[in-house]
Order: sequence, then structure tokens, then C-alpha cells
Amino acid sequence: MTDAREHVMRIRRNPPGLRVGVDEEMIRTLVHGFYARVREDERLGPVFSAVIGDDWDAHLDKMCDFWSSVLLLTARYSGKPMVKHIGIAGIDRALFLHWLDLFRATARELCPPEAAELFIHRAERIADSLAMGIAFARGEIPRPLSEA
Ligand code: HEM
Repeated sequence: MTDAREHVMRIRRNPPGLRVGVDEEMIRTLVHGFYARVREDERLGPVFSAVIGDDWDAHLDKMCDFWSSVLLLTARYSGKPMVKHIGIAGIDRALFLHWLDLFRATARELCPPEAAELFIHRAERIADSLAMGIAFARGEIPRPLSEA
């Protein structure tokens, strides 16, 4: 086996979530708890319902698969979050900051401390990359000079 393949296998056997007690049940509790608050939130609620309508069950299942893939490396999620978020009306940097505030508060309430901080750390990094991608797609971040 090559070194690279061995390295990947070692990481897969030791997913980051497992080390701090994350399991599928905790993911389900956090995802359902968080999006229940999102639905009630006066800024986030309308943005989500404009896209999702009443199809919350499918979204919740997808978000459980997403977090399971991120923290337990189960590879259950295989979508393109950037493409989906670029098209959302009303999404911007301020809304991402608000999303993160709500996520941090919910994670710290519903998960044990170490697990909560891992969820938060990953959410911050992903939110950052989504917000940057959206700003770039809108031309708010200048293109490199080498690009036409
Ligand atoms: C202001 C912040 C955010 C808003 C308003 C938002 C809104 C949405 C909406 C409306 C959808 C459904 C899209 C569709 O079905 O077409 C969606 C999907 C999704 N969101 Fe977000 N989101 C936000 C932040 C985040 C963050 C920070 C993450 C990750 C930590 C995330 C992960 C996802 C994923 C994985 C999907 C599923 C995409 C797919 O269909 O494959 N979102 N989001």
C-alpha cells in the first residue's frame, strides 16, 4: 500500500468526531434542534422557507448526512453546497454571522463541550468558505489579474 493510501485509511479509521464522542444520535439532536430554531428565527426563517417550502424532512435528512460525512467520515453526503448557496436570495456575510451565532449557541446547549467545539470549528470554516465563494461569484472580491 502506498504511504498516501495508508494515511487516508488511518484517518478514516479514526474520524475526528469519534474522538470527542460524536455519534449519529448527537448529530440528529443538533441538526433537528438547530433547524427548529432557524425556522423560528425572523431573519433566517424566511430565507430558508423561500427555498425549502415545507420540505423540511428532506433537508434535515440531508444535513444529518452532511455532518455525518464531515465528522464521522461516513461519506453519506455528496452534494455541492457552494452551488446551492450562491443561488439563495438574501444570503450575505451578515446572515452567515447570524447563522453562526445561532449554531454556536445551539451546539453549546445540546452537545457536550468538546463535541460542541468541534461542530463549531467545522461550521466556522465551512461558513467562511461559503461566504467567500458567494462574494467572489458576485464580483465583490476582485478576480486575479491573470484571469480574463
Ligand atoms: C446564512 C447562512 C445559511 C443559509 C441562509 C443557508 C441556507 C440553505 C438553504 C436554503 C439550503 C437548501 C438549498 C436547496 O435545497 O436548494 C441549504 C442547503 C445546505 N446548507 Fe446551508 N445555509 C447557510 C449556511 C450553511 C452553513 C454554514 C453550512 C455548513 C456548515 C451549510 C450547509 C448546507 C448543506 C450541506 C446544504 C445541502 C446542499 C445540497 O443540497 O447538497 N449551510 N442551505
